[in-house]
Amino acid sequence: MSCLVTSLTQTADTTAPAPPLLISGGDVVNADQTFRADVLCVDGVIAAVGLDLDVPEGTQVVDATGLLVMPGGVDTHTHCRLPFMSTVAIDDFETGTRGALCGGTTSIIDFVIPSPGQSILAAFDQWQEWAADAQCDFGFHVAITWWSDQVEEEMGILTRERGVASFKHFLAYKGALMLDDEALYNSFTRAKELGALCTVHAENGEMVYRGQMKMLEAGITGPEGHPWSRPVECEAEATDRALRTGEFINTPVYIVHVSCKEAMDVVARAKAAGQVCYAEVLAGHATIDDSVYFQEDKRAAMHYVMSPPFRPAGNPDALINALAAGVADTTATDNCTFCTEQKSMGADDFTKIPNGTAGIEDRMSVLFDRMVVQGAIDVNKFVAVTSTNAARIFNMYPRKGVIAVGSDADICVMDPNAKRVISVNTHHVKVDFNPWEGREVTGVPAFTVCAGRLVWKAVIADGVADWAAGEFSGVKGSGRYIERPCFGLPFETVPVTDKLREKQPIQRAE
Ligand code: URP
Ligand code: ZN
Ligand code: ZN
Repeated sequence: MSCLVTSLTQTADTTAPAPPLLISGGDVVNADQTFRADVLCVDGVIAAVGLDLDVPEGTQVVDATGLLVMPGGVDTHTHCRLPFMSTVAIDDFETGTRGALCGGTTSIIDFVIPSPGQSILAAFDQWQEWAADAQCDFGFHVAITWWSDQVEEEMGILTRERGVASFKHFLAYKGALMLDDEALYNSFTRAKELGALCTVHAENGEMVYRGQMKMLEAGITGPEGHPWSRPVECEAEATDRALRTGEFINTPVYIVHVSCKEAMDVVARAKAAGQVCYAEVLAGHATIDDSVYFQEDKRAAMHYVMSPPFRPAGNPDALINALAAGVADTTATDNCTFCTEQKSMGADDFTKIPNGTAGIEDRMSVLFDRMVVQGAIDVNKFVAVTSTNAARIFNMYPRKGVIAVGSDADICVMDPNAKRVISVNTHHVKVDFNPWEGREVTGVPAFTVCAGRLVWKAVIADGVADWAAGEFSGVKGSGRYIERPCFGLPFETVPVTDKLREKQPIQRAE
């Protein structure tokens, strides 16, 4: 697939109910247990889980013998159609969610990113319009990119009336999205009052800016300047600042795309000290190192420019270990794609290369291969870090993140033994580059069920998937907005810890 390919999507009646569907013969894998059961989906939800189920006439049957029936992936971090760095991400809600579904991901949480000065409510409405083409369910984090009484007021409206339960804060991108400490403090305080989770892109924007200037002054204009200008200390400092700010205010904090051991150590310290905080790991950061920036092929090197950057060898394994140990909680992709033409805007100045890479389609396979097949975690933990933890933290559980009666029928049927080779020539997103080009992975989403509808069927012969031959039958516009209430799991202990922290004046004798 390339930037030129526009649509594989059906334009069928999105309101037509899916026929009942039975996934039979597989092993159901949840975060807490694995068991042999069939799964019956009716009207978009899971109607029954068990053996010898009564099924309605006309039920479509998927044979999952030898396969793992797990909750569809939840990608907590995507940027479909993001206007960013003087261009717009090429994969929009239609093509981004197409890739998601082919790869076994059935829900995304994207980001509304208002321009500084813009009404955050107006930005939310704009993103909703763009997301009307989504083919799987989606939620929104809303970025706070400036501060005013209006922002404070609109945060209240978003949480109370629009189902927003998390806000995003950029400590990077000086002169654009970056928040200063005062705005960060104000937003954290307001979010706590509303019961919304604060998420943070933790890189020190001032240090990054100075690093970029240093590189350019030294004549380093190529993509290698990107990782060199924003080394791990930029991320460790900002991670610590974000977490300490949350600790001081006593509000939960979620650090997005933790990319290096130094920042993860900061998270581990905070968790060990009892702070309610979470870390997200990107499939890319966990499986690719910074050697990609130093290759001869400049076009490819530019395609890897994203923030935080891919890190020196050793860091990807540290991220995997953090997920295995429970220091990191979720996995995502930060899918934010730009074609070669767009990346070339920074051909002579790496600071102008639009930041972002693909991943939405390949996260489940790449992580299954790296984590389960290579023995870092078991399949239950895989489910925890690819869907359940995200659903709990972002208050979508048990609608998402579990195979159980009453949950949405969003299911990834994984073939744990099949292999596929990842390539731009066969992927289903639009961008003309794939960061895992040529990588063979074991663990193939054989079927994806979304809202009870079979939307992806891989073609697997002799244990090898022909990815291009798979049948995609998603429906443009069928994705629903996931309204998320506030005061979810992260806030459970806050009233108690607030109370414990209360101070009283010391009564002294005059
Ligand atoms: O490089 C990235 N990650 N682009 C998307 C915006 C962000 O920082 O998350
Ligand atoms: Zn970011
Ligand atoms: Zn991002």
